[in-house]
Amino acid sequence: MSKIGIIGAMELEVATLKKNMDTDQITKKAGMEFHEGNLKGMPVVVVQCGVGKVNAAMCVQILADLYDVTHIINTGVAGSLNPVLDIGDILVSKDAIQHDMDVTPLGYTKGQIPGLEQLAFVADEKLCKTAVEVCKKVNPDIHVTEGRVVSGDQFISSKEIKDALIAEFHPDCTEMEGASIAQAATLNNIPYVVIRAISDKADGSAQEDYPTFEKKAAEHCAKLVQEMMKEL
Ligand code: ADE
Repeated sequence: MSKIGIIGAMELEVATLKKNMDTDQITKKAGMEFHEGNLKGMPVVVVQCGVGKVNAAMCVQILADLYDVTHIINTGVAGSLNPVLDIGDILVSKDAIQHDMDVTPLGYTKGQIPGLEQLAFVADEKLCKTAVEVCKKVNPDIHVTEGRVVSGDQFISSKEIKDALIAEFHPDCTEMEGASIAQAATLNNIPYVVIRAISDKADGSAQEDYPTFEKKAAEHCAKLVQEMMKEL
């Protein structure tokens, strides 16, 4: 029997899911609220983990140890690093890298974590495929792409940093949790996928519209995750 852990960093990324699920129980751990119940007939644990890689990794470990989740989905917003991905479009992760992991002075590739073989954490194929198929059905007007997420404890809002990330990692979007969720899920043998809607271009443009774009993007994403529950 599947039980899906659904993580969003901010309240607006999980609000719709929490509103639409039948909640059986809410428990607190490490400053996070774990909402257990059913979403479209699927057992789920929905949680707002807070911003950044540490919060996100802690959240995965708690979901693994205390809630026995079988799959993890990270939903939320991201900055686009691919010209094909415009505001409101959706990126489904094929893999994820931590762009701020840098042990290059000791001979490691940028992003590589000493002690681990892989540079990128590969997402679950079935979760990825289901997300893309459901997205095409429920959001037919929105462009959906499979690709690479890069994450770091940094909000990217300059063209220079954006271009450096593109040159280094060939990613499609950037945010602040996905790749640490990917690492923690992989180390716990839990299949994962990151699903992000684009809220900005990660270059400081259209900053005044960010709150509006962020809200809309987060809702697109939550709607998709919700509809995915029927297909898993
Ligand atoms: N989340 C949404 N947009 C982002 C950006 N530009 N950088 C990091 N995280 C983000």
